[in-house]
Amino acid sequence: MDKNAISLLKQEHEEVKKLLNKLMETSSGAAKTRTDLLEKIATKLRAHTKIEEEILYPALRDAGSDKEKKMYHEAVEEHRAVEELVLPDLEKTDPSSNEFAGRAKVLKELLEHHIDEEESELFPDVEQLFEASQLKSMGEKMADLKQQYLH
Ligand SMILES: [Fe+2]
Ligand SMILES: [Fe+2]
Repeated sequence: MDKNAISLLKQEHEEVKKLLNKLMETSSGAAKTRTDLLEKIATKLRAHTKIEEEILYPALRDAGSDKEKKMYHEAVEEHRAVEELVLPDLEKTDPSSNEFAGRAKVLKELLEHHIDEEESELFPDVEQLFEASQLKSMGEKMADLKQQYLH
C-alpha cells in the first residue's frame, strides 16, 4: 500500500462525488436505485468522516496554530450538519417523492462545499505540517480503520 493520508481521502471524495451525481440523475420512478445509491453513499461517507475525525483532524488541530484550530472546528461542524441532520433526513424521505430530489441536492451541495474546502485549505495545510513519512503512516492507519468501519 503506497497511499498517503491525503491521496486516500481524495480518492474517497471522488467516489462519493460520482455516487452523488448518479443519485441526482435518478427520477422518482427509480425508487429502488435511489435507495441503493443512498445506502452506498451513506456507508462510504460515514466511514470517511470517522477516519478524518479520528486521525487526520486531531493531528491538524494539535500540530497547528489558531488557524488550524478554527479550520478543525468548522470542518467538524460541517460533518455534523451532514451526518446528524441532512443525511438522516434524506434517509427518512420516500425515494418516490418530489422532496427526495430536493433533499439529495442539498446533501450534494453541502458535501461539494466541504470537499472543496478540505482540498483547497485543510489538506494543503496538513501537507505543510507533516513529513511524507508521517502522511504515509497516517494513511496506513486510516486504511485499517476504514476496513473496520465498512464491515
Ligand atoms: Fe470531511
Ligand atoms: Fe473528506
